[in-house]
Amino acid sequence: MTNLNAKASIGILGAGTMGSGIAQVAASAGHPTILFDSNPAMLEKSKTELNKTLSRLLEKSKITKEESDTIIQNIRYANSMSEMGSCKLIVEAILEDLSVKQQVVKELEEIVGDECILASNTSSLSITSIAGAARIPSRIIGLHFFNPAPLMPLVEIIPGLATNPDLLPEVKRLMLDWKKSPVFVKDTPGFIVNRVARPYYGESIRIYEERWNDLPEGPTGFATIDWAMKEFGGFRMGPFELMDMIGNDINFTVTETVWKQFFHDPKFKPSLTQKRLVEAKRFGKKSGQGYYNYIQEDKFPEPFRNEHLGKKIKDRVLAMLINEAVDAVYLNVASCEDIDLAMTKGVNYPKGLLKWCDEWGASNVLAVLEDLHREYSEERYRPSVLLRRMAKEKSLFYQ
Ligand SMILES: NC(=O)c1ccc[n+]([C@@H]2O[C@H](COP(=O)([O-])OP(=O)(O)OC[C@H]3O[C@@H](n4cnc5c(N)ncnc54)[C@H](O)[C@@H]3O)[C@@H](O)[C@H]2O)c1
Repeated sequence: MTNLNAKASIGILGAGTMGSGIAQVAASAGHPTILFDSNPAMLEKSKTELNKTLSRLLEKSKITKEESDTIIQNIRYANSMSEMGSCKLIVEAILEDLSVKQQVVKELEEIVGDECILASNTSSLSITSIAGAARIPSRIIGLHFFNPAPLMPLVEIIPGLATNPDLLPEVKRLMLDWKKSPVFVKDTPGFIVNRVARPYYGESIRIYEERWNDLPEGPTGFATIDWAMKEFGGFRMGPFELMDMIGNDINFTVTETVWKQFFHDPKFKPSLTQKRLVEAKRFGKKSGQGYYNYIQEDKFPEPFRNEHLGKKIKDRVLAMLINEAVDAVYLNVASCEDIDLAMTKGVNYPKGLLKWCDEWGASNVLAVLEDLHREYSEERYRPSVLLRRMAKEKSLFYQ
């Protein structure tokens, strides 16, 4: 058993967006932290960016000079992976490619002691499949941070089939020490957040593509859906604004990956609308245009503020989201509490979806889905078995 105390050395592999953020988190918690990237330019960039971030935090008095100095001193930028030999935990945040991740696991096992825990920050690969390449698969675990890692509290902890169960409380304690909100998730596609959130995007695009309940065509259509989800659902960002912020390329890849891993379940089917945007390089904010045009922001379309339509849109998307959360409970992906925590802390939902189900009533959620199922005759709208049971028994997730 390892001892992940505050003095334990932490290794971070990959100094890109996620690796740099996770290194900052570990160093802030007081750990000697070793950061390595196969591209030395990325290490340099990571160092420069961290200095900029810390200067900004200092200016705003969010940290003291002493804290900033400690974080800087705690991070060592390594020239070689072999410098990670004494680490108790290594988190890899490299390229999202199974064979590259498996190769890195093999290389790390040549360097570290048998007690060292090897964690992967993968968003979409199976932890069990990464562990398949390991000499000691019981030490492999998923630690899925969210972007930006220093700001987003959620961390999904994912044991693979072979992971030593004793690691779970130990890693959870460490994440709490790092001031994170850890949740446990079964090794299933998309884990919690990237699975349960899919309908927020997919169902919204579907509504936009259709001739549906007076919804205007074109840009006014998605502006109306964004307005409806914020106005009547209380979401901080509408689905189209959010996809543009995440990047339509990234959002499309996550959807496609989850869909493929679920053996093409129609619930997760990607959309042609989003594919075309990606093909046109309309990635969103980062490319200047996505659903919206960020070069001419004054040309942002006004929504069609029709209350009846807005509430119908909100009910349809929310029913689909709740159905997915309920199905995740039904399939033992995670506990109710962890699913609700993940959606509020990982994607800032205004409320946990299972709590929302209790408030709205399982039978009302079921009625929306059954209407859709009847109208479309598509598997996509099948209600979860658990939702049906709960509606029948009038039971609640929380007493
Ligand atoms: N970006 C996100 O929003 C996000 C969120 C959660 C999880 N993730 C996951 O985190 C991981 C990293 O994503 P990112 O966005 O930080 O990517 P990134 O492209 O910003 O950084 C990846 C870094 O890994 C380095 N690298 C590649 N192969 C390497 C190797 N063999 N050894 C050492 N370094 C290597 C690259 O040089 C690069 O600097 C991926 O698995 C991704 O799925 C990303």
